[in-house]
Amino acid sequence: MTNSSDPVQDSTSSAAAAALHTVSFTLNGAPRKLQVAAGESLLSALRERCGLISMKDGCSPQGQCGCCVVKVNGQGVASCAMPAAKVAGKTVVTNEGLAAHERTLIARCFVATGGVQCGFCIPGFVARTSALLARNPHPTRAQITKQLGIHLCRCTGYVKILDAIELAAKVKRGEVPLPDGLPPLGRQRDRHGEGATRPAAAVGRRVPKYRGEAYALGDEPYVADMSVDNLLHGAVRLSDHPRARVIRIDTSKAMALPGVVRIATWQDVRGTRRYGLIEQDWASFIAEGETTCMVGDVLAAVAAVDRRTAREAAALIEVTYQVLTPVTDAELAMAEDAPQVHPDRKNLLSMTKYERGDVHAAFKNSAHVVRETFRTQTIEHLFMEPESCLAVPQAGGKLKVYSQGQGVYDDRRQLCRALDMSDSDVTVTLVNNGGAFGGKEDMSIQVQTSLLALLTQRPVKLTISRDESIRIHPKRHPIVMQYAMACDERGKLTALQTRMVADTGAYASVGAKVVERAAGHACGAYYVPNAKVEGYCVYTNNPPNGAMRGFGVNQSAFAVEQLLDMLGEKVGLDPYQMRELNLLREGQRFGPGQKLEHCDGLLRTLAAVKEQYYGAKVAGIACGIKNVGIGNGMIDVGRARIDVLAGGKLRLNHGMTEMGQGLHTVAIQMMCETAGLPYSSAIETAVCTDHDLDCGMTTASRATVLVGNAVIDAAKKLKQELDTVGGDLKKLAGKQYRGEFLCDWTVKPGAAGHNDNPVTHLSFGFATQLVIADEKTGKIVKVVAAHDVGRAINPTLCEGQIEGSVHMGLGYALSEELQLEGGFPVNTSMRKIGVLRAHETPEIEVLLLEEAEPMGPFGARGIGEIGLVPTAAAVAAALYKFDGERRTVLPMRNNYEKKKRV
Ligand code: FES
Repeated sequence: MTNSSDPVQDSTSSAAAAALHTVSFTLNGAPRKLQVAAGESLLSALRERCGLISMKDGCSPQGQCGCCVVKVNGQGVASCAMPAAKVAGKTVVTNEGLAAHERTLIARCFVATGGVQCGFCIPGFVARTSALLARNPHPTRAQITKQLGIHLCRCTGYVKILDAIELAAKVKRGEVPLPDGLPPLGRQRDRHGEGATRPAAAVGRRVPKYRGEAYALGDEPYVADMSVDNLLHGAVRLSDHPRARVIRIDTSKAMALPGVVRIATWQDVRGTRRYGLIEQDWASFIAEGETTCMVGDVLAAVAAVDRRTAREAAALIEVTYQVLTPVTDAELAMAEDAPQVHPDRKNLLSMTKYERGDVHAAFKNSAHVVRETFRTQTIEHLFMEPESCLAVPQAGGKLKVYSQGQGVYDDRRQLCRALDMSDSDVTVTLVNNGGAFGGKEDMSIQVQTSLLALLTQRPVKLTISRDESIRIHPKRHPIVMQYAMACDERGKLTALQTRMVADTGAYASVGAKVVERAAGHACGAYYVPNAKVEGYCVYTNNPPNGAMRGFGVNQSAFAVEQLLDMLGEKVGLDPYQMRELNLLREGQRFGPGQKLEHCDGLLRTLAAVKEQYYGAKVAGIACGIKNVGIGNGMIDVGRARIDVLAGGKLRLNHGMTEMGQGLHTVAIQMMCETAGLPYSSAIETAVCTDHDLDCGMTTASRATVLVGNAVIDAAKKLKQELDTVGGDLKKLAGKQYRGEFLCDWTVKPGAAGHNDNPVTHLSFGFATQLVIADEKTGKIVKVVAAHDVGRAINPTLCEGQIEGSVHMGLGYALSEELQLEGGFPVNTSMRKIGVLRAHETPEIEVLLLEEAEPMGPFGARGIGEIGLVPTAAAVAAALYKFDGERRTVLPMRNNYEKKKRV
């Protein structure tokens, strides 16, 4: 496997070969003559013709994410938006060409501050940093923020990126030393109080992220950066209509294009054409005679000698349709006479219902009742790395697939069905992805890529564009929630009733589970003695909705938090007092009925923001609870394996996905802590189906808890044997230790009625967030996020997860929406989707509280999702305080500012 091929040779085989012309420029200090096609971007020229990979393609040709920034004549430039011809006579420097000391300096600073998560955007920031510091060695934080104008990061909330650039400036000026990669503990206390004698990897320390520097510089390959000999490139032809009968698919013109090797359609599928994580309803290819379900449906896939030719050919495929009116409204789609999205099933995908106590009597006898309808929007994950897959045929009819999906074992299971192959014939290896947030749980183009590889018996790589990515993968559900909530004369909650209708779009994905979770968390973080909850999940012809960070809980939190404030007004209690009175206590029942244990941290998170809340003139607060582990009757399992290698080094494998959250790093920390070994003992960690460590999907904030417990199990076995050989790891070379953690004791919400303590979830995370707005403008100026994380295994990574979540929550609250019209995205521009840029992101302060979770490894709770559960409601509360308007529709689009202008 290499990171480059001979792209010029590839490209000259394409249809565009005739239009090639020569550009002369200086690249990374050396003169370069390059043949480029008319209109070809600098990004394409650098990646495809020069074999460089540090500049990543996040949105080409939009020029709106900054992942592809390189230096041209010393200025940071988005290379996807610059024609290659324009660099004639100029000097281009990519991260590969930075001086060695500068590479080390900037990369170390990004890692030391925690500025690298998935890493896909970071090489662009590194190039920008280099350009900025060359021009201005003393930039202020405000100047740095301004310079990051075009850059997007979906993981970090920019806090630690700004920290990194500030630190790099200081190091460059000689004011502080170059970080050594193991900074001091910072403000986190060391619970063991014996830091000097503990292994360097010890839990609770801010150890550097595994392979962080390579990610920062862009050296670590994502799938799109990989290449092998004899590689073909793929492209897909998507549907032109969300609902249309496909009469004919004509591939003849496309096939005639020079450089095209094979076109696959429904007729080539060898196994079962429909797949899915739960329901088998998603067609890998729509057949002639069938009706499309969405504009992301695949009609054909092309393999060609280069990507440009493959994409050109895909566009030449002619499709004849009978266009039908799409079903786009979830409520209307439930009507008996509504057209069916899928001919073999009703539009109502699932219902979640549960009831506790006597809701009718409780409402009747309550002192105060409030009723409101809340509406949330479709949200695009906008992970910076568009989906990509590489499939390589192996001897004996086998197949090796490199995936950036969130569950390689689920990928393999679905691929085997689709390709009619057995588990032993397909290997899926995880290539750490450039962000996912739930959006890479479902398969995207793994089947089409694999099929092309099998049909051609050549390796095929297929990377889709940003526009295609947005059409294909599932989003966050828009949900309409009708709520009623009641309390007694003192403000104690008495009853709650809600009906939720969620648009799950074209395919089931995990929509039923999302609605189950929204319904399960319908009472929020509060004790409500009487509750009646109904959730409906409905197919439409919109793009599919599925897993996204928070998994339905953000939606119900937006509603229930505001209802609590509305009741507080009637009683005469302020938002803090209402929460203090009603937050769940030990032994009280969570939504569907589970008696909570070890939840003191919830109240502590509230107390942590008290002073700032009462000290601010315009502020809102909201609390959050979020399940850890899938639960609801599903088995949660974590598996890990430690191999002792020659030379006394360790390889740690587990079955869950590294997608920027730092799972590999904390897994290594927990292994080394348990075995009493230094962090440097571990040299490798990887995820591949060959390891036989199936943990299911990386979802539900469960990876740290499940993998962590499994790692501890394995490391204890290693430690036991290590003690017998006097601690000499070399003497155990060749040994292998497996660990497992299994949670099989949860129950489904609806089935919980007969049990006095229906345990629906393994564990929970707790939070309170405070949002402060400017008293004159209503602009959000600060968010304080107080989270009970159980135990911060790595405080830097832990803070980073929460900062990134808050940033995502602020976008959810204020500006983000994938607008749809007639089943089509209104546009797929990165800018218009509304993700907040650095200069639009307020100060974020994270307060980590540590009330140990008994089920958690070293007491840790999962934190991947809860960081944005309370955010939108806290923003709504702050804006309400500002102008007295209750906002029930997301996004709020800064409409307090617009309103003032009107
Ligand atoms: Fe910025 Fe992941 S680290 S997008």
